[in-house]
Amino acid sequence: MTSEVQILTIRQPDDWHLHLRDGAMLEAVVPWSARVFARAIVMPNLSPPVMQVADAVRYRARILAALPPGAAFEPLMTCYLSDDTDANELVHGYANGVWVAAKLYPAHATTNSEHGVTDLVRIRPVLEAMQRAGMPLLIHGEVTEAAVDIFDREAVFVERVLGPLIRDFPELKIVLEHITTEEAASFVAEGPRSLAATITPQHLHLNRNALFAGGLRSHAYCLPVLKRERHRLAIRAAAVSGLPKFFLGTDSAPHLVDAKESGCGCAGIFNAPAALESYLAVFEEEGAVARFEGFASEHGARFYGLPLNEGTVTLVRDGRDMPERIGDVVPFHAGERLAWRVAA
Ligand code: NCD
Ligand code: ZN
Repeated sequence: MTSEVQILTIRQPDDWHLHLRDGAMLEAVVPWSARVFARAIVMPNLSPPVMQVADAVRYRARILAALPPGAAFEPLMTCYLSDDTDANELVHGYANGVWVAAKLYPAHATTNSEHGVTDLVRIRPVLEAMQRAGMPLLIHGEVTEAAVDIFDREAVFVERVLGPLIRDFPELKIVLEHITTEEAASFVAEGPRSLAATITPQHLHLNRNALFAGGLRSHAYCLPVLKRERHRLAIRAAAVSGLPKFFLGTDSAPHLVDAKESGCGCAGIFNAPAALESYLAVFEEEGAVARFEGFASEHGARFYGLPLNEGTVTLVRDGRDMPERIGDVVPFHAGERLAWRVAA
C-alpha cells in the first residue's frame, strides 16, 4: 500500500502563455496543447508579428484550421505592441473581442522582438487606454542593455521598469510573463492585485547548471535564461503557494532542431507535449498537489475575468518515456521518464 496519489482529476486547465508559430510548425504543435488545455493565450511574435486586428483574425482562423478534428480549443489572441501601436485601434479590438491582451516585448529582448517597444514613453497613450479599458498588459520583463548581465536582466527590469510602471498605472492589469527570479516572485507577491505572473515548467525544474551539464546544452536555452538554484526555489515556492497571482503559462516555444543546435541557437523550449505532467511532478515534489488545480485551472481565468472551464482532465501515475524527438523538434524532458500521464 502507498499513500501517494495515483490518479488526479482537476478542472480543465488553460495555458496563459503559448507560442504556436505558423504553417507546418503550427500544425505539428497545436494538437499537443489542444489535448490538455481548453484555452491558451497565443503569443504574437510571428514574423511579421501579429499587430493588426485583421492579422489576428486570420491567425486565429489558421490555428482553428490546424486543430485535430473534434478538438475544442480556444486561442486567445494578443497584440504585439510596437512604438507605433494606435491606442484607439487597440482598445477597439479589445472591446470587439479580437484581442484578449497586448504583449510588450522590449525591442531585441527575445525571439522576433525587433519590432518591439524601444521605450515605454513611446506607448504611454496606449497604456492609458488599456488601463481605462481593463485590457491586460503581458510583459516580457527583461531589460536589453548590453551592459546589464544577462542573468540580471529580469531583476533589473523589475526594479527600473516595472516598479515605476505600476506607480504610473496603478489600475493597469499586468502579467509579468515567465518569471525566473526571487526578485520577480516577491515583487509580484507583494504587489497590487492588478499584478500577476506566469511560471513555466522549465524554470521550476532546471537551474542554470542545466545549460552546461557536460557540455553546452542548447535545448535548455530559453529566455529569460535559467537562473541560479535559489531563484528556482523561490519560483517553486511561488507556484505552489496557492496565491492567486501565480498561474500556469508554459511558454512552450518550439524551434526546429537545426535552429537550436547551431553556433547561435534560438531561445525557446518546446514543453507542450508534457507540460501539465511536468508541472504536476513539481507540485508533488513540493507536497502541494492540493494546490495544483488552482495554479493550473483557476487563478489565470480569474485574473483575466474569464469563466472557469467546465470539463476535467485526469492524470494517472503511470509514466511514459518522452521521445528524443517529436518530428523535427526536441521536446522538454526528451529521453526522460515522466511520472505522470494525462489519461486519454
Ligand atoms: C520565445 C520564442 O521562441 O518565441 N522564446 C523563449 O525562449 N521563451 C520568446 C519568449 O517568450 O521570450
Ligand atoms: Zn514566450
